[in-house]
Amino acid sequence: MVIRAITVAGAGQMGSGIAQVFAHSGFNVTLYDIEQEAVNRGFSAIESSLSRFVHKGRIREDQKFATLSNLTLSTDLGHACNSDLVIEAAPEKIETKKILFKSLDRICKEHALLTSNTSSLSITEIAAATARPENVIGMHFMNPVPIMPLVEIIRGLATSDDTYDHILSLTQALGKTAVTVKDFPGFVSNRLLMPMINEAIYAVYEGVATPAAVDQVMTLGMNHPMGPLALADLIGLDTCLSIMETLHDGFGDSKYRPCPLLRSYVQAGWLGRKAGRGFYLYS
Ligand code: CAA
Repeated sequence: MVIRAITVAGAGQMGSGIAQVFAHSGFNVTLYDIEQEAVNRGFSAIESSLSRFVHKGRIREDQKFATLSNLTLSTDLGHACNSDLVIEAAPEKIETKKILFKSLDRICKEHALLTSNTSSLSITEIAAATARPENVIGMHFMNPVPIMPLVEIIRGLATSDDTYDHILSLTQALGKTAVTVKDFPGFVSNRLLMPMINEAIYAVYEGVATPAAVDQVMTLGMNHPMGPLALADLIGLDTCLSIMETLHDGFGDSKYRPCPLLRSYVQAGWLGRKAGRGFYLYS
């Protein structure tokens, strides 16, 4: 099977970034979301990311336009019927993902591969919502997608060798590096990253230090490119909470309990950069 046409289901920061890297590599990409406004926001994010690359001299203006011309915007999931591959980048809610995969299974061509960009949920469980679990696999990109070289590949219990081989080659075609991990809560990336972020939030909650001080310790002291609280704001505090809940439920270990401060920020709608407020204020 040759993969040419791709649907990215979900036009948030991950979905739009994923659509951008595929379109930049010459694939025909349909960027889908429920609301036209969400799709338009995703397209604007792609345009401004490409403009940044042009400004930095990393791509030419004509490459920016070629990338944009590989993109189609849609609010009709039915368009996925023409795709060889779908990448789901919906919110981190297992029920939402299962409903979406059930629909995709009905809509998509028989040979089409269905992948999820989930950052912590079970690929095996998502795959079980379809009648083609052998064609389902996890393809976990990192934020910001156009910059970060890693794609974590997660095989579900029923994922076939054929599906895995296609996704490995595809990841290479995008210029990214694949690392294969088992289907465990949080995989490897978020099993390591999220407890660090959660602990940073506890440090603020317990009054040990301000957010800026916690972040400085990690940027100046550990050479991290950004502090854990600035990173949490970039990822989205709702996503951070969902991942901590998945780790807590999945391992049943109290060391993964989400910090109450994280929970109240999410309840307040202080979701990080996308909301204009998280541990920092954004204009
Ligand atoms: N599009 C295009 N270019 C972008 C970009 C985007 N979306 N975001 C950043 N850049 C570019 C900048 O233009 C700049 O380019 P040059 O190197 O050519 O100058 C470069 O990236 C660095 O950007 P900045 O100078 O603005 O800022 P920075 O040096 O702090 O880098 C960063 C920004 C790349 C985000 C860096 O801070 C970083 O690597 N942070 C950590 C990110 C991280 O840990 N990501 C993983 C999150 S976890 C995840 O995604 C998984 C999950 O499931 C939750």
